Amino acid sequence: MNKNYYITTPIYYPSARPHMGHAYSSIIADFFARFKKIDGYKVYFLTGTDEHGLKIQRAAEKQNKDPKSFCDEISKTFENLSKSLNLSNTDFIRTTEDRHKKSVQNLWNILEKNKQIYLSKYSGWYSVSDEAFYNEDEVEEKDELKIAKSSGSIVEWVEEESFFFKLSEWQKPLLEFYDKNKNFILPESRRNEVISFVKGGLKDLSVSRKTFSWGIKVPSDENHVVYVWLDALTNYLSSLKYPDENNNLFKNFWPADLHIIGKDILRFHAIYWPAFLLAANIEPPKRVYGHGWILSGDMKMSKSKGNILDPLEIINNYGLDSLRYYLLKEVSFGNDGNISEEKLENCINSDLANNFGNLCQRVLSFAEKNCSSIIPKHDFNNDDLVILNSLKDLSKIRSFIDNQDINQYMSFIVDRLFASNKYFNDQEPWKKKNDKLRLYTIVYTAIELIRKISIILYPVMPQTCIKVLNTFNIKEDYIDLSSLENDDFLKEKLKISKLDILFKKIDK
Ligand code: MSP
Repeated sequence: MNKNYYITTPIYYPSARPHMGHAYSSIIADFFARFKKIDGYKVYFLTGTDEHGLKIQRAAEKQNKDPKSFCDEISKTFENLSKSLNLSNTDFIRTTEDRHKKSVQNLWNILEKNKQIYLSKYSGWYSVSDEAFYNEDEVEEKDELKIAKSSGSIVEWVEEESFFFKLSEWQKPLLEFYDKNKNFILPESRRNEVISFVKGGLKDLSVSRKTFSWGIKVPSDENHVVYVWLDALTNYLSSLKYPDENNNLFKNFWPADLHIIGKDILRFHAIYWPAFLLAANIEPPKRVYGHGWILSGDMKMSKSKGNILDPLEIINNYGLDSLRYYLLKEVSFGNDGNISEEKLENCINSDLANNFGNLCQRVLSFAEKNCSSIIPKHDFNNDDLVILNSLKDLSKIRSFIDNQDINQYMSFIVDRLFASNKYFNDQEPWKKKNDKLRLYTIVYTAIELIRKISIILYPVMPQTCIKVLNTFNIKEDYIDLSSLENDDFLKEKLKISKLDILFKKIDK
């Protein structure tokens, strides 16, 4: 069985500081990466910044900066955000790095050699904000401005010499590819969207620009820079040291297992990207998941709309793990979702302080008083085994992850947390002072439940779960999903160290 796993976030435009939408894509990817890691996989997790193109050039000009130093500055804020989000990424790639330029130019040369690129003239609509070309029927007029119907961003008329990629030739192979790889695009609604778009016919795609210079030069014609999406998508290969296809990174990790992206960039990942790769005789990625947007009210959160929520501020005020938990549980994965401080506070109180935090605190303080904080002996009865068994179905838990069903994964956790609190209540260990073995067994079972739930919750809230698991002397590197199958993992007489309050209830 192949135990390597390659997962990516989109690479972010450093045109402005990061916001909650960016944090969302990254947290989702980190969740999957961490799960795979505790399930014994070697994980390669890539994130980074997408630094070329007119959008960045203009943003830099606005501040009277040259694009490279402008990017250096803002890319740093994304790298710092990765740290603030506690991402477990293996690499952080910047498209202005030489290793990336080399990959892009190499891919270009192969496409040219395979007769997939020709020189012609582009005339049509272009949105700098989306870095996308639009057909006449994808554009409408609003307040005397031409805008793209899908994103609402302003488009401008472009007429220039351009290299084209023969995308039209890939309509049939792409449809065959989607058909053979039914789960290449998820969720299903987005897959249907893409298929109907491709069925409607594909036009050749302009893949170079000539009227500005902030990009990677086309190797065969230095007057052109490579279209920023062909440049950007290639990051997924360059981090693996492509074009050196014999190096171990490329051999072990390509094709990528999962590209996590927002729904706004689906067309690039689900149509252009596999087409470029097929045309260059490189295997396409295994899956592209297009998540929904984080809304503010009912609008997409974005810099241009001025409605952004700063993830760093939220982390400072409420803690990182609360934010991670909220985004993973309260935003239905695949759909749009909302975040507000009020909703976050409600979630912290009900799920984290009252449910998970409460379970840990009451069980461990009971163990302190009644078992001197030492893992006691046990003799399970049927009630104990039933609840412990409900946390060992690895194939069910793995299938949530492999289907990217975060919603079910989170409901499973919440359900097991309620059940564990209920178990402790119903068993009433405080009434068993005359039956020490039963009291000890209830404590042992409850602690095992905390251990198991903390392992499943680790990909969601790594820092918090490490704290909990450390009290049982389980260190991060030894967190192992398969230990869920073991109901008496914890050794008798082990000293339980002190656990501080995990989540404070917020007064409202
Ligand atoms: N640079 C391109 C991606 C290139 S990948 C080869 C890009 N950058 S972006 O900074 O504009 O967006 C990066 C990601 O953030 C996208 O997946 C986008 O969907 C996501 N989000 C940006 N705003 C968002 C929300 N308000 N909500 C959720 N995610 C959104 O596109």
